[in-house]
Amino acid sequence: MCGIVGYIGKRNAVPFLLQGLEKLEYRGYDSSGIAINSSKGIEVIKKQGRLGVVKNIVESKPDFCSSLGIGHTRWATHGSPSDLNSHPHVSSCGKIALVHNGIIENYIEIKKNLIEKGFDFKSDTDSEVIVQLISSLYKNDIFSAVKKAVKILEGSFALGIICKDNPNVLIAVNKDSPVIIGAGTNENFIASDIPALLSETRIICRLPEKQIALIKATDFELYDFDGRMTQKNFTTVNWEVNAAEKNGYDHFMLKEIMEQPEVIKATLSPRISGPNLKLDNAVFSKEYLKNLNKICIVACGSAYHVGCVAKYFMEKLLRKTVEVDLASEFRYRCPIIDKNTLVIVISQSGETADSIAALREAKLKGARILSIVNVIGSTIASESDDVLYTHAGPEIAVATTKAYSAQLIVIYILGLYLAKSTQKINDENLSLLVKKLQNLPYQIENTLKYKEEVFKLAKKYYKYEKVFFIGRNLDYAVCMEGSLKLKEISYVHSEAYAAGELKHGTISLVDENTLIIAIATQPELVDKMISNIRTVRARGAKILVITSSLYIDKFNQVSDDVISVPEVSPELSASLAIIPLQLISYQIAKLRGCDIDKPRNLAKSVTVE
Ligand code: M6R
Repeated sequence: MCGIVGYIGKRNAVPFLLQGLEKLEYRGYDSSGIAINSSKGIEVIKKQGRLGVVKNIVESKPDFCSSLGIGHTRWATHGSPSDLNSHPHVSSCGKIALVHNGIIENYIEIKKNLIEKGFDFKSDTDSEVIVQLISSLYKNDIFSAVKKAVKILEGSFALGIICKDNPNVLIAVNKDSPVIIGAGTNENFIASDIPALLSETRIICRLPEKQIALIKATDFELYDFDGRMTQKNFTTVNWEVNAAEKNGYDHFMLKEIMEQPEVIKATLSPRISGPNLKLDNAVFSKEYLKNLNKICIVACGSAYHVGCVAKYFMEKLLRKTVEVDLASEFRYRCPIIDKNTLVIVISQSGETADSIAALREAKLKGARILSIVNVIGSTIASESDDVLYTHAGPEIAVATTKAYSAQLIVIYILGLYLAKSTQKINDENLSLLVKKLQNLPYQIENTLKYKEEVFKLAKKYYKYEKVFFIGRNLDYAVCMEGSLKLKEISYVHSEAYAAGELKHGTISLVDENTLIIAIATQPELVDKMISNIRTVRARGAKILVITSSLYIDKFNQVSDDVISVPEVSPELSASLAIIPLQLISYQIAKLRGCDIDKPRNLAKSVTVE
């Protein structure tokens, strides 16, 4: 996944391009570049490495300016990170420059044809093929060449294009990869994501799927791939500008961890009215619920881990089958779903390619799709029958924290709403759980107050190279997320294990160099967890337990350290247990000198399958 930006207007484009790319660096950061259309023609500065490298070069060239330009920050898919593979790519004729996010599936075939026609390629990327293809179709009308090219390309592509001969035109294209147009006064912007635009405008128009935008300084027009003009729909974004800033924290990840109480309030409050729950615009008729045969949840990474919590939470509550699948695996198991299946797609970005593919597969089979998404109007949101938005605001750190927590909240609300609608919960229990839900933000706030204590434990354990997270039932689902947090930002190898499963083989790995992080919040499983902990302790492992305040004494006797979280209904415990896990991973990564917000090899939203 990569980030693209573009500007057309009366100002110098370069400052916006640089600061827009800075906001999008979370999408990819192995190289970056800018192209402008100046009096000298197309000029490009691009380099391998972080944006800072390009920024330094640009700042040393005061005459590198123009009122039309595009920029890119890259996460390599085709061709290693290098200066030549960086974007923007320029056509052999030198007239057209292009930035691309996505993957061109038929690029080898197109490249072969173009080479036969005498085109010369400088990079190993699929993206360069697009600009050369456009150039091969170009006859003094860039828009018409782009229209022809998009019909030939297969795969996913968000494009920003400028052409030397058309200094008053910026072109953007979307196929399976988001492009947002920001509308200004006598200037317009494009970007892959909203944070890049926040300092310039709040009025945005998402470029719909398979459309081309012909953008001028004063206005823009949208066309479908057959060249028919289509309608523009504007939305006003109400995110604060500083929502995409660090606000004094060392890292976005820590800022986002600390924002969780507010985010949860924002996600909860519009959905609770007295003892009742509201599901935005989603309506589940009695008839629909009577025929509902099962719920299938599909998601990737942390969102999948929310799905694992959801399975335990919903299945127990609703007495209905709840399946959870990794979106990348879903299609290949020929899932048994039909019009009576509710498919829940969970995604922070709403742009994850595997989740989109799973959604489309489920839709083809007639299932009703409900998505839980953070980014308004994203592809997953717009292709779903119902959307429940998390109100987490922009999440910049690659490792998700606040979006995960907000997704859990939506799962609780949805589960309770369906339980009430199917008479699986009585009013008394419902109102008790709703009260506990409303109390969660305050309990999270209290848990966060112990940040420094958790950081001290991080100091004690940060050198361990082998870590197992163990738990049972809901705690096991939380272990998966805790383990992912640790490995993705600190590069420590860790695994999440169902505590009872360890003895079936994996325990042979446990020795005095192993750190076991045990999560034990489920009352009926406390004693079983104690036995599991004793077993690994006997093999020399160090034990850190996360438990509810009720069981501190019990676990103190069998562990090296205990972190307690406030007492809450066991069904909701994931929301509290995850907090110390996020904090300890953050601090371990910091002590190990890792690049916390932009871990190696990762990107925030994975728009390739
Ligand atoms: O945008 P999505 O929620 O669909 O992204 C899914 C995963 O890529 C994501 O949750 C990933 O695992 C996290 N960044 C990990 O912290």
